[in-house]
Amino acid sequence: MSKHDILRILEQNRGEVISGITLSDELGLSRNSIWKGINALREEGYLIESVKNKGYRLLHESDSLSESEIKLYLKNKDFSIIIKDELPSTNTYLKENKSTDFKNNTLVVAKSQTSGRGRLGKNFYSEDKSGIYMSLLKKEDLGQYDISLITIAAALCISEVLNSIAGIETRIKWVNDIYSQGKKLSGILTEGSMEFETGNLEYFIIGIGINVNTESFPEEIKDIASSLSLMTKRKYIRNEIVARILDSLEGYLLMTKTSPSTLIESYRKKMLYLDQEIVVSRGNETFNGILRGINEQGHLIIEREGKLITQNSGEISIRKI
Ligand code: BTN
Repeated sequence: MSKHDILRILEQNRGEVISGITLSDELGLSRNSIWKGINALREEGYLIESVKNKGYRLLHESDSLSESEIKLYLKNKDFSIIIKDELPSTNTYLKENKSTDFKNNTLVVAKSQTSGRGRLGKNFYSEDKSGIYMSLLKKEDLGQYDISLITIAAALCISEVLNSIAGIETRIKWVNDIYSQGKKLSGILTEGSMEFETGNLEYFIIGIGINVNTESFPEEIKDIASSLSLMTKRKYIRNEIVARILDSLEGYLLMTKTSPSTLIESYRKKMLYLDQEIVVSRGNETFNGILRGINEQGHLIIEREGKLITQNSGEISIRKI
């Protein structure tokens, strides 16, 4: 607990020196406990400078993912947060440990992933240790959500959070990719499990990957991927971004039932290639069309040879001509 309290005070005064006496007076702890707490935080990766005869300073560039710091930023504390150094995939981790092992609203965050997965069996680059790779488990009160619009809701949430945190214009490439300035910043993978007999949804998982402080990408994706820091020339505190997403995601998810038309309209306005000509790939087949929006199930509406057709996300991908 003392570690968490020390962090709270240092975080509230990020960049400034706080004396050991102030910390021990405010927290009612001995100087030795403060020293131990500081060392424990350093072991977690926090960049805390000791300034001789003055005290401790949490450096501006300190950006270590931790449960304590995410909770400092969170308004709604009703989440169980697990931080892992490395996982093959946070989505797979939640799925493999089955919905029964974890409580509703469990969030797993990995500092890096060795087999990050995307839609349509694609890989998601997540070896870099300065991104956000996380998955949220929902397994209670699922009747409040319309499952067909969950990915739409999550994509809109991420797009708007990134807009407001980084001040950049983001667009959603249907159905689950967030783009800015022509490059991918983030991807979302939602997965769920249905009970065979009843057809009831057992749980769903929302996996979110964001390129945050990533400085370079492998050769094969460097022309199509970017990060918040590359775009805005500054660094971000990932714990704050995680908390902002958690605090706002539920509101978007509830809209899938309470106000789907508002959700769909807001999503439509943010769509990449809206009213532009695109190439649609479906298996081995490709055809051209004009992207017109999404319908009430979140399916893509395309104008093809003068007629409107809809396409489900399981089947297709799109790109600009
Ligand atoms: C896509 O690009 O199609 C979606 C990418 C989703 C990536 C996230 S990272 C956290 C979670 N774990 C995964 O393996 N995938 C998602």
